[in-house]
Amino acid sequence: MSSSLLDLATLALIVSPTIATSSYDLIYKFDKSNFFQNFSFYSDPDPTNGFVQYLDYDIAHQAGLAKISSGNVYLGVDHTNTYTTGGRPSTRVMSNIHFDQGLLIADIAHMPGNACGTWPAFWTTGPNWPADGEIDIIEGINKQTATQVALHTLDSCDITTPASELAGELTATACSTDVGSGCTVQGTEGSFGDAFNELGGGVYAMELTSDAIKVWFFSRANIPNCIISGHPDTSAFGTPMAVFQGSCNFEKVFTNQQIIFNTDFCGDWAGHSYASSCSLSGGLSALSSCEAFVGANPSAFTETYWEIVSIALYQKGSAAVSSVAPTPTATSAPTTAPATAPPLTGSVLPTSSPVRSTPWTRPSSQPVAPSSGSGSGSGSTTNGSAARVSPAKTLVFLRELSL
Ligand SMILES: *[C@@H]1O[C@H](CO)[C@@H](O)[C@H](O)[C@H]1NC(C)=O
Ligand SMILES: *[C@@H]1O[C@H](CO)[C@@H](O)[C@H](O)[C@H]1NC(C)=O
Repeated sequence: MSSSLLDLATLALIVSPTIATSSYDLIYKFDKSNFFQNFSFYSDPDPTNGFVQYLDYDIAHQAGLAKISSGNVYLGVDHTNTYTTGGRPSTRVMSNIHFDQGLLIADIAHMPGNACGTWPAFWTTGPNWPADGEIDIIEGINKQTATQVALHTLDSCDITTPASELAGELTATACSTDVGSGCTVQGTEGSFGDAFNELGGGVYAMELTSDAIKVWFFSRANIPNCIISGHPDTSAFGTPMAVFQGSCNFEKVFTNQQIIFNTDFCGDWAGHSYASSCSLSGGLSALSSCEAFVGANPSAFTETYWEIVSIALYQKGSAAVSSVAPTPTATSAPTTAPATAPPLTGSVLPTSSPVRSTPWTRPSSQPVAPSSGSGSGSGSTTNGSAARVSPAKTLVFLRELSL
């Protein structure tokens, strides 16, 4: 090797690690130009027992529930028809890409507003739930005005973040599904529902490293310039809304994360907690009251939609190399849009229940127990075999909710 080449090689060794560890590089960005090609629609029964029918791309698109609107990605629910059985048609999408670590930045113009029976979520999880871990970034029910950020893990993961290090409030410290319903941070006002929308929406940033998981929320008027310019620097973000650190091997318990947006109705969380902020129908249980309301009142859900400006994943140096997108592994292939999306054909939902693109049969390996309700989350199924937790855990979860 000539001495000048050697010098170059030496220089590269000295210089590149500095560059690699100090700044985030954009790895993927999804927006109106490619979102429907890179997110798959989930149309199997809801693993969290919601009063919902998740539509595949074709039906959702025909019904006007999956489209580009005002230059943004629109993911909605049926707000014109009534339903007595089956559930209200809605959308649930999952990124085809997976990642282990990095900084996820979601610019969201509108999220489902507050309405009785709704349970929207923006979250990540991997194909093997709960072994891959779950990170609920925006999640809440009914009339909540702040998000509840939550982690769910298989292995023990205990959070000890001092209160001074986060703007939200650490409300549960044990993340493992063996122990209960996950570790949680109650977010700050304005981070969810109508309050979020009134501020013009904003940016959520979630950083997953081997040391911690942090979540920031910036309302539209307060988005840091470094995010707007596409060079996010977390040291300029200020105090995070949520910080999870402590006795937890983050690198091991959070892997293969896929990005999910969904809007559920009733089910394990919004249904069983319906009475905490919404009225029961005479003589009916919380869950039945929820389903009756959601089925009969389409006009309550005109604000129940996500409008996503963009979602971007940034990584540092070597982490970027490991995030090659594997092929999705769903057994009943989720649908994505054709590379060229067909033109909009109006918004007429089938009058009868939408037909699923593939008949669903419970895999023999799949436990029948309902999932723990905290995640929309909690029973994610990317490989078609819904991972669920035991009834005992659901009871623990429901008991905690009623405290
Ligand atoms: C997004 O989808 C397009 C069309 O299928 C594909 O060419 C592209 O590689 C995908 N992007 C990523 C990051 O996977
Ligand atoms: C699907 O996921 C479940 C739950 O995580 C897991 O037990 C099962 O082995 C997976 N099946 C396949 C075919 O990957």
